Amino acid sequence: MSAWKASASQALRRRQWEILSVVAALSSMWIVFTSALGKMPQQGSASGCARCHPAQEAEPLTPMGRALELPGTNATLSSHPNLTFHKAAYTYTVETHQGKSTYSVTDGAHSITVPISWTFGEGAQTWILERDGHFYESLVSYYPSVERLDITTGDEGLTPETLEEAIGRRLSEVEVKACFGCHATNAVINSELSLRTLKPGVRCEHCHTGVESHLISEALSGGGDLESAPPALGRLSSEGISNFCGQCHRTWDLVVRSGWRGVSNVRFQPYRLANSRCFDGTDHRISCVACHDPPQTVVRDEVSYDVKCLACHAASSSNGLVASPGKEEGCPVAKSKCVSCHMPRVRLPNGLMTFYDHHIRIVKPGESYPY
Ligand code: HEC
Ligand code: HEC
Ligand code: HEC
Ligand code: HEC
Ligand code: HEC
Ligand code: HEC
Ligand code: HEC
Repeated sequence: MSAWKASASQALRRRQWEILSVVAALSSMWIVFTSALGKMPQQGSASGCARCHPAQEAEPLTPMGRALELPGTNATLSSHPNLTFHKAAYTYTVETHQGKSTYSVTDGAHSITVPISWTFGEGAQTWILERDGHFYESLVSYYPSVERLDITTGDEGLTPETLEEAIGRRLSEVEVKACFGCHATNAVINSELSLRTLKPGVRCEHCHTGVESHLISEALSGGGDLESAPPALGRLSSEGISNFCGQCHRTWDLVVRSGWRGVSNVRFQPYRLANSRCFDGTDHRISCVACHDPPQTVVRDEVSYDVKCLACHAASSSNGLVASPGKEEGCPVAKSKCVSCHMPRVRLPNGLMTFYDHHIRIVKPGESYPY
């Protein structure tokens, strides 16, 4: 976190030495505006933001930045051009040719084929399909863990009676807006679905609202007037950050109110984390952004998290063991790879996806899943 901050502010300082071309700033303002107005749905670069905030440059390439993919950008399907799956009387085929994919289902006698326009998920993929003015969630999805199609998570209980139903679950208008709202940027404007303005993935402006006025002020002042800088999310408490990320990763409150119990809630990190004894809503060392930099791909190296745990469970000087705050005794078991034991990996009931349990705890052999 501090490295991220340091490099961002260094870069910003460096930038202040440059004489910023008003023309360049205006053009980036234009890009943001036109995309906001829907004239130019924009993909690829981090708008103009990375020019001045180079530390965040990689964001569009992260899984969050690619939570939704458009045709032509789906490397997984391009490298698996012919996928099939059988479910009861139906056979599914996902075919990709020159970047364009189609989703077909047949009962042997008849078949329905729909182009894939919206790929949701950067790892496991589900497709939102449009047919006769309705949106469907594909009944089958692609899972990298097994490199093949299987039933979409949560839809295991559906038994289609007709070919039409076999395409997938028909989504209500509210659900469609929610899917696009969480997986894309500028997809919902004034509570209406706005596919014209959509930018695929979770991008800068989704988290930093108010950037349009930030850019105008930057442009007009040549970069000097920072009064319009978007509200700094860094000022939120750990609880505030959990709720912020929880807009999409689901908040503690939502999970409790909805009664989402059992193993499937392992993917709702704000909820799981808040249930740990480690969690303190006012201590930034346990905030989501203490362990994750949103514009970076999640670090898949367990050792690298030791330092995050040790920020609170400081090593005692005498024996090098790990102690709880205010306690003399340490971790009697190990000095590194803390998360490998205390944030166990949990497989979803379908066996196709695994998540690290953010309910940090001592895991007792044979214990049942807490909550
Ligand atoms: C022309 C340069 C420039 C561009 C382009 C630019 N910014 Fe900034 N931004 C700045 C400067 C300078 C600051 C003030 C930095 C500070 O206070 O340390 C800032 C501040 C911010 C902050 C507040 C940081 C904080 O901790 O207070 C955020 C968030 C931010 N910008 C996001 C964005 C996003 C998102 C974009 C693209 C849509 C963007 N910026 C485009 C120069 C720019
Ligand atoms: C607008 C919705 C949204 C918000 C807000 C959001 N996320 Fe995400 N995030 C997603 C989606 C969607 C994915 C799934 C990406 C995928 O795999 O397709 C994701 C994935 C992730 C991942 C896994 C990515 C990887 O590199 O493997 C991490 C870590 C993450 N988010 C952390 C955060 C943190 C921390 C915050 C708050 C600062 C946050 N997210 C806020 C939507 C969001
Ligand atoms: C409230 C925000 C939200 C909504 C609504 C939402 N997603 Fe997601 N989605 C996420 C987040 C966050 C992740 C990453 C964490 C995870 O995997 O649970 C994710 C992950 C995914 C993944 C990756 C595989 C997986 O299951 O982890 C797929 C596929 C996906 N979503 C499809 C959809 C589809 C299709 C819809 C609409 C029917 C939808 N999502 C609605 C936030 C959302
Ligand atoms: C998933 C949400 C999310 C996305 C996407 C995102 N940010 Fe941020 N950003 C945050 C949060 C949360 C913080 C506060 C983190 C902290 O200070 O600990 C932050 C902090 C910042 C800061 C202030 C950093 C500092 O010096 O403290 C800047 C500038 C910034 N982001 C720019 C960007 C730009 C540019 C992009 C796109 C390339 C982007 N962000 C994408 C959530 C996001
Ligand atoms: C104390 C450190 C820590 C905190 C705090 C933390 N995480 Fe994580 N998170 C991890 C670790 C460790 C992983 C797994 C990394 C790996 O694969 O090696 C992870 C993985 C993830 C993933 C990817 C899915 C998975 O299970 O592999 C998402 C999404 C995520 N975290 C979101 C969040 C959100 C949202 C918050 C705040 C509510 C948060 N995290 C707080 C340590 C943390
Ligand atoms: C914000 C500070 C903080 C951070 C960061 C933190 N912890 Fe904790 N942790 C605590 C506190 C406080 C307790 C409760 C101590 C007590 O009650 O004796 C605790 C308790 C624990 C316990 C005992 C829980 C139980 O079930 O009895 C374990 C195990 C633990 N932490 C491991 C970790 C690991 C592993 C990490 C890193 C992934 C971590 N902690 C990060 C503050 C923290
Ligand atoms: C190989 C698995 C493993 C690893 C790795 C591990 N622990 Fe533990 N830890 C345990 C077990 C098991 C216990 C419970 C021991 C008992 O109660 O007899 C424990 C206990 C703890 C406790 C509670 C001690 C108390 O006073 O109640 C804390 C805190 C803790 N570990 C933190 C950590 C931290 C921090 C790390 C990384 C530096 C770590 N652990 C690495 C397995 C592990």
